[in-house]
Amino acid sequence: MKSTAGRVIGIGIGPGDPELITIKAVKALKTADVICVPKAHAEKPSMALAIVKHILDERKRSPEVIELVFPMIKDESELKRSWARNANIIAEKVKNGNTIAFITLGDPMFYSTFIYLYQSMKERYPEVKLEIIPGITSLTACAASSKIPLAERDEAVAIIPSDIDSKQIEEMAKYIDNFVFMRGAQRLKDLAPILERAGFTKNSTTILAKRCTMPEEKVMIGKLVDVQSWNIYEDYFSMVIIKRSELQSNRK
Ligand SMILES: C[S@@+](CC[C@H](N)C(=O)[O-])C[C@H]1O[C@@H](n2cnc3c(N)ncnc32)[C@H](O)[C@@H]1O
Repeated sequence: MKSTAGRVIGIGIGPGDPELITIKAVKALKTADVICVPKAHAEKPSMALAIVKHILDERKRSPEVIELVFPMIKDESELKRSWARNANIIAEKVKNGNTIAFITLGDPMFYSTFIYLYQSMKERYPEVKLEIIPGITSLTACAASSKIPLAERDEAVAIIPSDIDSKQIEEMAKYIDNFVFMRGAQRLKDLAPILERAGFTKNSTTILAKRCTMPEEKVMIGKLVDVQSWNIYEDYFSMVIIKRSELQSNRK
C-alpha cells in the first residue's frame, strides 16, 4: 500500500552513457510512481528520458511520465512563473502519496534545472519531503574521456558558465590553474588570447570535449596555440578545459 506522505527525489542520471547511473538512482527509478522529465522545448524529445528508458522498460508497472517545460530564457519573472507552475504540478502529484522522481542530466546540484524546482518547492510546499541522489557530472565525465586530470596536487580549478565576460576571466586567470568552460565550444577561439595575456602559454593543455560518454562523443586535445586551426562547431553539450600546465607529449 502506498504511504500517504509523498516525496520528491531529484535524481542525477549521469552524463549520457546509460550505464553511468548509480545503483541508488536505478532503485529509485524502478519504484517511483511518477517520472518528471524537464525540457527546454515541449516539442523536442528528451535526452534524459532516453537515457533512463532501459530502466523504465524493465518495470512491470509503467510509471506515469510527465514532461515539464523549463524555458531557457533570461526573463527572471517569466522563469519564476515556470518554476512555480512546475512546482504546483509536482505538489499535486505528491498529495496523493506518490513518489516523484525528477531526472536531471549529470548531477542535480550542478547547473541543473532541479535547483530551481527544489527552491520553488521549498518555498511553496515546505511540508513536502525532498531528497537528492547525486549523479556523475559532465565535468568528471569529460576529464575521464580526455584522460587528462582535472586537478592534481595544489592546482586550483574554476568552472565558468558560458556567459561570464572576458575581463572577469582574464582577472581570474592570474590565480587559477585550470579552467572549465561550460558550453565552451562557441568561445574557445576567443579564450586563447585572453588566457595568454594572463600567463597561460601557447603550450597550455587544451581540451574540447563534446557529448562525452554519448555515442557521438568527440574529444580534441592540443595546445592553446592549436585551437585557431581546429574545426569547431557550436554544440550545447560541449565543455572546454584549459590547463595552465603544458601538454605532455604522451597525452595527445
Ligand atoms: C545545464 S548544464 C548541466 C550540467 C549537468 N547537471 C552536470 O552535472 O553535468 C549543461 C552543460 O553541461 C555540459 N555537459 C553536459 N553533458 C555533457 C556531456 N556529456 N559532454 C560534454 N559536456 C556536457 C555542457 O557544457 C552543457 O552546456
